[in-house]
Amino acid sequence: MTYETILVETLGKVGLVRLNRPQVLNALNDQLMTELGQALMDFDSDDNIGAMVITGNDKAFAAGADIGAMATFTYMDVYKSEYITRNWETIRNIRKPVIAAVRGFALGGGCELAMMTDFIICADTAKFGQPEIKLGIIPGAGGTQRLPRAISKAKAMDLCLTGRLMDAAEAERAGLVSRVVPADKCLDEAIEAATVIAAYSNPSVMMAKESINRAFEGSLSEGMLFERRMFHSLFATEDQKEGMAAFVEKRKPDFKNK
Ligand code: CAA
Repeated sequence: MTYETILVETLGKVGLVRLNRPQVLNALNDQLMTELGQALMDFDSDDNIGAMVITGNDKAFAAGADIGAMATFTYMDVYKSEYITRNWETIRNIRKPVIAAVRGFALGGGCELAMMTDFIICADTAKFGQPEIKLGIIPGAGGTQRLPRAISKAKAMDLCLTGRLMDAAEAERAGLVSRVVPADKCLDEAIEAATVIAAYSNPSVMMAKESINRAFEGSLSEGMLFERRMFHSLFATEDQKEGMAAFVEKRKPDFKNK
């Protein structure tokens, strides 16, 4: 598959997607979101891939939805076509882990895209924000919903209402990102994390992701029940036998991903 707005490569068992519209700081348009969704779905169904990384470039992960493309849209244009948000939820249906490696700006839809991944590793140059308020709109791809869950109501309100940007240190304190690393190490760190994940038993990785996502969306008792059922079901896998036998025998496990 050839793409125009993203660059796709495979590094061992890791699928890497680079957002690639540098002239507009990787502003997210319909084509890019369609191509990103397709690339992730292809990796998701590829047995040789165990985890994915999405990144941008040194200046920007993505500076939001493409303002130029939507500047003249009417209500009917956006409502009927869902142009800005139509393809965005594809990433939520990806079952293998997806990591965002964020350098530079992750604003508006860029911040929302990063939050749709499973976790964010960012550079010390990263800047996060939901500045839509400055454009006379509000976040439209989950900013008002995922930010309060990911950080807090207070900080979500602060960012969405003032439009100010949050640096990497504040993002780490707030819990938005899992790690902050020097900018020149950011992508390597994310690929390394994805490589570690991809070496584990794939069913346990996918069930861990699915269970944690339940904590984000449902009640505690439902989440506990779901987790327990997933936990029990993993005892049907060969990898559970191998993982535990390896521990008992004091050797490294040789997971077959089944
Ligand atoms: N859409 C389209 N083009 C964009 C863009 C965007 N979101 N962000 C940056 N660009 C373009 C600029 O227009 C500029 O193009 P030209 O060279 O042709 O003028 C180029 O990228 C470089 O940008 P700047 O010259 O502005 O770079 P800077 O370093 O001075 O500023 C910035 C960087 C602070 C990120 C600034 O570009 C900016 O504020 N961008 C807009 C951020 C924003 O408002 N994002 C929210 C979009 S709405 C949204 O995302 C809705 C949603 O929830 C789905």
